[in-house]
Amino acid sequence: MKTIQLKDKTFRINFTSEEILKQVNRVASEIDRDYADKTPLIIVVLNGAFMFASDLMKAMDINCEISFVKLSSYEGTQSTEKVKEIIGLNQNIEGREIIIVEDIVDTGITMENLLADLHKMKPNSIRVATLLFKPESFRKDFKIDYIGLSIPNDFIVGYGLDYDQLGRNLSDIYIITE
Ligand code: IMP
Ligand code: MG
Repeated sequence: MKTIQLKDKTFRINFTSEEILKQVNRVASEIDRDYADKTPLIIVVLNGAFMFASDLMKAMDINCEISFVKLSSYEGTQSTEKVKEIIGLNQNIEGREIIIVEDIVDTGITMENLLADLHKMKPNSIRVATLLFKPESFRKDFKIDYIGLSIPNDFIVGYGLDYDQLGRNLSDIYIITE
């Protein structure tokens, strides 16, 4: 079993890059199907979603635009439950079809905050695409339209996700070992 060490924590492989890309491609075809003849604006939540967003967009065939917001709520392996906006949106989204692309929906606090902010900007529609979802930890009630993989409530790294900023470059996803 392949394990890696990041600072004080050990992680073992959970999803290979092949398994991840299979789900990314599936989500891309669902989006292609739902947005045929539309030009959605993909809003990527930095930092974690950069790798997912890149592979997702490469697999999509429809016309689309991309923009970024930078939010932060985690310190170490715990959510601080406070969402910091580090870089906001610098464009008008009124009347647009928006797809938020996120690495992981955990408690849902980050996404709920972002949804509330974006709704104020009067887009025509907003959908949520997340690579990973932790159903046991989710405490909100917004709809998640596209989910790559549902996972148990354990801390993971890789494919954009970090432990104290490390591990984002791994092409597989690793789970913490206790
Ligand atoms: P939420 O606000 O609790 O839904 O947390 C969402 C954010 O926390 C995500 O955008 C991630 O950046 C981060 N996060 C949640 N769970 C994990 C994890 O298991 N590993 C790394 N980051 C995580
Ligand atoms: Mg994130």
